[in-house]
Amino acid sequence: MKILIIHGPNLQLLGLREPGIYGSESLAGLNIRLAAAAKALGVEIITFQSNHEGAIIDRIAEAYDGKIDGIVINPAAYTHTSIGIADALKAVSIPAIEVHISNIHARDSFRAHSMTASACLGVIAGLGIDSYEWALQALVRHLRQQQ
Ligand code: DQA
Repeated sequence: MKILIIHGPNLQLLGLREPGIYGSESLAGLNIRLAAAAKALGVEIITFQSNHEGAIIDRIAEAYDGKIDGIVINPAAYTHTSIGIADALKAVSIPAIEVHISNIHARDSFRAHSMTASACLGVIAGLGIDSYEWALQALVRHLRQQQ
């Protein structure tokens, strides 16, 4: 089983960026943790980060080759603006879980609305970088139940 993990804009700065909100772990460190979690679950992950909306849309479209079973996506700032990413997720109709490190409902009011959540099975937010691990677990459980 292959899971694509997509990190949106500014997440390459994890560890440096507003550590009081996003923590001190780097993106490389997070990806290592996710690889270990994936190994324990018996699945493979592919990680992708981009600051560009179109590149994220292209990567989602590329996943439509039958080889990606599920997507964990943190669309970051595009969460609140991107009809394009939502449409891409709906177009490929690969089960996806949206993730946020911070609790987007406890911050600026403009962060409380997600354009992309309706294209996902569910959303996990506010649990720090553990949000990704819970999302991976939930997605794998969902996919195994579908098999
Ligand atoms: C974020 C929350 C977004 O509002 C913000 O723009 C991000 C990160 C999170 O993981 O908490 O870049 O998606």
